[in-house]
Amino acid sequence: MNNTQSTDVIFELSRPGRRCHRTPQSDVPTQSLAELIPGEHLATQPPPLPEVSEIDLIRHFTNLSARNMSIDTNFYPLGSCTMKYNPKRHERLAALPGFASLHPLQDDDTTQGMLELLFEMQQYLAEISGLPAVSLQPAAGAQGELTALYVAAAYFRDKGQTHRKKVLVPDSAHGTNPASAALAGFDTVTVKSNAKGLVDIEDLKAKLSEDVAVFMITNPNTLGLFETQIKTITDLLHGVGALVYLDGANMNAILGITRPGDFGADMQHYNVHKTFTGPHGGGGPGSGPIAVRDFLAPYLPAPVVIKDGDRFRLLFDMPKSIGRVRSFFGNVGILFRGYCYIRTLGPDGLREVSEQAVLNANYLRTRVSEAFDIPHAGPCMHEFVASARTLLRERKVRAMDICKRLLDYGFHAPTVYFPMVVAEALMMEPTETESKETLDAFADALLKIKGEDADLLRTSPHSHIICRPDEVKAAKEPILRWTASA
Ligand SMILES: Cc1ncc(COP(=O)(O)O)c(C=O)c1O
Repeated sequence: MNNTQSTDVIFELSRPGRRCHRTPQSDVPTQSLAELIPGEHLATQPPPLPEVSEIDLIRHFTNLSARNMSIDTNFYPLGSCTMKYNPKRHERLAALPGFASLHPLQDDDTTQGMLELLFEMQQYLAEISGLPAVSLQPAAGAQGELTALYVAAAYFRDKGQTHRKKVLVPDSAHGTNPASAALAGFDTVTVKSNAKGLVDIEDLKAKLSEDVAVFMITNPNTLGLFETQIKTITDLLHGVGALVYLDGANMNAILGITRPGDFGADMQHYNVHKTFTGPHGGGGPGSGPIAVRDFLAPYLPAPVVIKDGDRFRLLFDMPKSIGRVRSFFGNVGILFRGYCYIRTLGPDGLREVSEQAVLNANYLRTRVSEAFDIPHAGPCMHEFVASARTLLRERKVRAMDICKRLLDYGFHAPTVYFPMVVAEALMMEPTETESKETLDAFADALLKIKGEDADLLRTSPHSHIICRPDEVKAAKEPILRWTASA
């Protein structure tokens, strides 16, 4: 963004004695600081903070905020992240003092409204997944995966089947799947995808044995394809006594159309922040509840919310529970927004969400295919993966260059280089909340970018304050503190 007033200059704007506010002198008698704190710990100079007026400060922060891309400012087709519009009404409702001011240590008697809401949320998530027992505790999808794997481990331990050490994961899976399996103490075995981008059944069969504990499958998968052989897959797993875990990050494509419990999954997580909206990005805030079959319910994290007569309470007495995975009742603020979303839309509305998400993705897929390879045959579900491999071969332009250039056109980049089974991957998820005009504008930009000068693309973006940060260095050597130069 080309702000005429640079936002970096807050320190240069500083003038001695300039203030936003002047606090009155304290009239509370205190001992002198020197008597309380040893002299060597006392600063001799005030900290070199900028001294600015209120209007300069407001401009500084307002301009900084406008440098960010967000779903409220730009189309954000970040595949696998479901960056759909977050209804503002939810923010207002979540801020109602009766909910927002609750303290999690309050007595159950004083939190009946919130407990009722959480109880109903458990029921909705059970109904949508076809899996009857729910824990709202996990704070993100990845933590949901880990929690479910702990539940599976506890279940097999209880059955005396500690030899089940393996977790199978397709090669197209999100990186959190093998990471969760390893963290839960399992050995990860990769299952190949076939040429259609689906689980290779022969490879799966070759890896099946009595020491498999869980198969983690994403359906629709990360290529945006529905695993058409899902029933065969789940039957095969159950045939060797293993459990099927559904990575529910892509539930946005199947709400009200099919249910993981109906196609054979035994456990799943939700990404409430994606599927049911919650402002997310940059690592949070999230909510990753899990839903499991009845026979796994005793192992869920305690407490769960139950209804006792006409009262709601927290059930801690769960002797086989794996214990807590998060403080209190989960990320209640995001669960609350998800609850509002489900209640607002109802069963028909949720189904419509998925139908529109799939329609939008297929429309965009068709338009994008005018410019880029789409390695796997459609139709797709809620997202699809294009590839910049031909551009790389012919003009040395990479997927990353396309993404950076899109910023100049006012679009957030698609997910790039994931899933790893596609070279130069550009993964796009338009979501149901975007109009045809927005999708067309995005596709037109991609078509135009494809024809642009290779050097222009390799050095983009050109209209932003930061061009190409060294992302590795930024992650490995982050500068987290401002230091005065003088
Ligand atoms: C397919 C898939 N699984 C799991 C996750 C992890 O979810 P979270 O980011 O909420 O931890 C993601 C997140 O992008 C995902 O896309």
